[in-house]
Parts: sequence; C-alpha cells; structure tokens
Amino acid sequence: MRTVHSLKELRTILRGYRQQGKTIGLVPTMGNLHEGHISLVRKAAEMADVVVTSIFVNPMQFGAGEDLDRYPRTLAEDQEKLSLAGNTLVFAPAAEEIYPEGLAKQTQVVVPDVSDGHCGASRPGHFEGVATVVTMLFNMVQPDFAVFGEKDFQQLAVIRKMVRDLMMPVDVVGAPTVREDDGLAKSSRNGFLTPDERKIAPAIYQTLQATAGKITDGRTDFEALESEAEERLRGAGLRPDYLNIVNSQTLRPATTDDTDLTLLVAVFLGTTRLIDNLSLTR
Ligand code: PAJ
Repeated sequence: MRTVHSLKELRTILRGYRQQGKTIGLVPTMGNLHEGHISLVRKAAEMADVVVTSIFVNPMQFGAGEDLDRYPRTLAEDQEKLSLAGNTLVFAPAAEEIYPEGLAKQTQVVVPDVSDGHCGASRPGHFEGVATVVTMLFNMVQPDFAVFGEKDFQQLAVIRKMVRDLMMPVDVVGAPTVREDDGLAKSSRNGFLTPDERKIAPAIYQTLQATAGKITDGRTDFEALESEAEERLRGAGLRPDYLNIVNSQTLRPATTDDTDLTLLVAVFLGTTRLIDNLSLTR
C-alpha cells in the first residue's frame, strides 16, 4: 500500500490503474480510523480493483469554536489499519494542497434544502464544506464509486443529492453504522469522552431504539415523541442539540403519511458533540 500527499502523484498513479482497466473505489475520511471507517474500506475492496482512502481533516467543514484543532491526527496507525483492510492507496494531502488560495477564495458547492435543518442548522457552513471537499475528491480521484457511512445520515443525503443534481459520474454507496457492544456508534469523537461521559453515552442509541419502538407500536404524535426523547436524554445526563423524527428521503418532519422514517439525534456530552440515527419502516 502506498501513501501520497500530492495531487500530481495521485493522478500519475491513478492514470496507470485506469489504463489497465481497473475499477476505482473511494473512501473519503478525516483519519483517526476506527472499525466504522474500516468497514467502508472493506466494502470498497469487495467492489473495486483499487481502493483509495483519503485522509484529510477538512478545515472548510469546521465552524469557529469547533474541534478542528483538537481533531486527532494519527496517520501511522491509520496506514497500518488500512493496509490490513485491503486498501490500495492513501491520499493524505496538506491543507495547502487542497486550498492553495485559502478558504476565503475557494469556490464552494451548496446543496440546498437537505442541508438546511438538523446539523446544517446547528453548524452553519458545515455541509457546504463537506460538499465542496467531496466534489474536489471526486474530481481528483475520479472513482467509479465512493462509500459513505449511514452514521452521518444527513451527510449521505447531501452527497446523494449533490451527485444527482450535478450529474456527477460517481455511484454513492451507503454502509451501515458500526457500533460498540453497548450500542454507541463508533466515532473519532468518542475518544474525547471522560470515563464518566463514556458510561452515559449509550443512552443516545437506547433513546433512539425506545422512540422507534413507540412508533412501531403505532404512535404518530411525532412532536410529543421528540419531546419525550429529549427529556429521556436530559435525564441520562446528556444535552440534546436536537432529536428530530423525519421522512427518510426528504429529511423533513415526519407526517402520518410517511412510512420510511429516520430519527436523527445530536447531543452534547461535556464539550463533545455526538450524532446518531435510526431508520424504521412503519
Ligand atoms: P469522517 O468523520 O472521518 O467519516 C468518514 C466516513 O466514515 C463517513 O462516510 C462516515 O459516515 C463513516 N463513518 C464514521 N463513523 C462510522 C461508523 N460508526 N460506522 C460506519 N461508518 C462510519 O465524514 C467525514 O469524515 C467527512 O465529512 C468527509 C466525508 C470525509 C468529508 O470531509
């Protein structure tokens, strides 16, 4: 497995693979890889001849006061895990390689509507940062397909819409959320939790499951269910940012006509913000 840091090297190597008729799968990441990321790489390796994993902590998707500076950078460990998972090439550019003129002068990609609520409302500019860097990664790697985790449900919806709206020639593949034994979704941010916070964190998924159970039992008073769920999170010692019950396709508030629903949640635990989601059919 090779690691390259420059676009020039990346393009040279990928040109060779393409001339040999090989298919290319891309797994975009910000590094500090865990089993969730690795499951995407394994999936890509099953589907493509060549797997490119990008590792780039994208400054454009972090707001002022967010955790850009403390975001863990662990390239050597990441390389080891990737090579065991069947990855072919690591692309780990510096910020100057991606944004040579700086963020202020960078062309941006805006994906309206689906970016607006939930994390988009709490983190202004976040999904523009994600859509922009993912567009650039698609143009740099020109993969046949790219794999994204359902863990970031709204992000996956934003990317699917972007690819559709801009006719990007890339298949978007979703992969299920990998969890700890106690249900907590794996996340690079779990490492920020103190031991006491870590004990509380499983309440996030437990609350999603309990709320989903009430819906499959027939309840349709979604706003009341959201309030009850937020109350349960507070009772467990979490500070809910939002818990929204939405139509899985549009991400708009669920109505009694909808059959495919997703529960989207974001909470603060100390200084750490964690997200999770659960989809159901009723
Ligand atoms: P990052 O948070 O590093 O996540 C990279 C990919 O791993 C995303 O597609 C995410 O949904 C997936 N992932 C994270 N935790 C997961 C879990 N527990 N189970 C399954 N998949 C999981 O998401 C980003 O980076 C960035 O926004 C990025 C798309 C790379 C753009 O900068």
